[in-house]
Amino acid sequence: MSTLQNKRILLGVTGGIAAYKTAELVRELRRTGASVRVVMTMAACEFITPLTLQALSGNPVHTSLLDPEAEAAMGHIELARWADLTLIAPASADFLARLSGGMGDDLLSTICLATRSPIAIAPAMNQAMWDAPSTVANMTRLRQRDFIVLGPGSGEQACGEFGPGRMLEPVELAGHLELLFSTEALTGKTVVITAGPTREAIDPVRYLSNYSSGKMGYALAAAAAEAGARTILISGPCQLAAPERVELVNVVSADDMLQACLEFSPKADLFIGAAAVADFRPATVAEQKLKKSDADTMTLELVKNPDIIAAVAAQGQAPFTVAFAAESEQVLDYARAKLARKKVDCIIANDISAPGIGFNSDDNAVTLIDRRGETRFEQQSKAQLARELISRLAERL
Ligand code: C5P
Repeated sequence: MSTLQNKRILLGVTGGIAAYKTAELVRELRRTGASVRVVMTMAACEFITPLTLQALSGNPVHTSLLDPEAEAAMGHIELARWADLTLIAPASADFLARLSGGMGDDLLSTICLATRSPIAIAPAMNQAMWDAPSTVANMTRLRQRDFIVLGPGSGEQACGEFGPGRMLEPVELAGHLELLFSTEALTGKTVVITAGPTREAIDPVRYLSNYSSGKMGYALAAAAAEAGARTILISGPCQLAAPERVELVNVVSADDMLQACLEFSPKADLFIGAAAVADFRPATVAEQKLKKSDADTMTLELVKNPDIIAAVAAQGQAPFTVAFAAESEQVLDYARAKLARKKVDCIIANDISAPGIGFNSDDNAVTLIDRRGETRFEQQSKAQLARELISRLAERL
């Protein structure tokens, strides 16, 4: 369960081009189970309509301090009291200046003065405006007053310039908010996770492998570290950067991965096998590059690779062991059979035939199966799904 479940998030949207991303942000927050109410400044309404955010949040959007009807429905003080957390995203340079100056000349700035909830700000502006001495001074004052500053990121900007000032992506913002409410469910625990494909050498220049991107395993490692665990990520070759506070152990073949897992898993409380381990490897690895022959066919003899996760689960003091079952048909039946065959504690079943989820995509939807029963996790970003899975698994430890 997400730490944002049933939390009340007051989202303040100010006038900047990044306001268009708040549609996705509201959806992301609601996906975690949070209630969202939106307050927009007049300038924000030029970039995205209140109607859009009303439809996505499921609540009326508030824009005016001096509208008797709106105040009668839910006034600025009630909104300020309602929030468990106030998030200003995007926070424009102008709004940061007004916040730092303690202004109360519109609904959002008044709520910021009145609320006792923590206030997080996600600045978004042109890189020169972010570097302007006035903005730097305003940010220093806001940090001193315990405002939580999320970002900004750096990169290409809507104005065509390059540098710091991009609003963090909605999924990153939701992740930061989850951390703020995190109870550090895995503090003091060690988690070992395998991720990515393995490469099985044929000769010095060729190998057998698969299309695994490693995204699910890396997202799980990030979520485990966020939850306070010492996290060791044993990864086959992939293009992803190690998440923060994660110890990355790079391996190439299934045999290398097995050795690393046997080394690290005895210290682990939780082991998750998210790697797409090659089932077979060439029986021999040619020392020199194989030459083209005149024959039209070529035969490679393959031998079975060790089952890493079964080896981990079979150890004397095995950690709580979780396998993935990526299946394209009879997903749940095969997954249940795998739970018994591999003697693991839990299986996460993944339908790789469904479009838009699973292998190599950014989203996933899975069913968690253990001896207590089955729980469905609907389609969502792998980052968000990973947090939900980690918090569910933490309950089991
Ligand atoms: O046997 P199958 O490949 O379908 O099982 C998938 C699960 O087993 C995944 O958790 C994967 O990481 C793990 N596995 C393993 N070693 C293998 C094959 C799969 O650890 N040789």
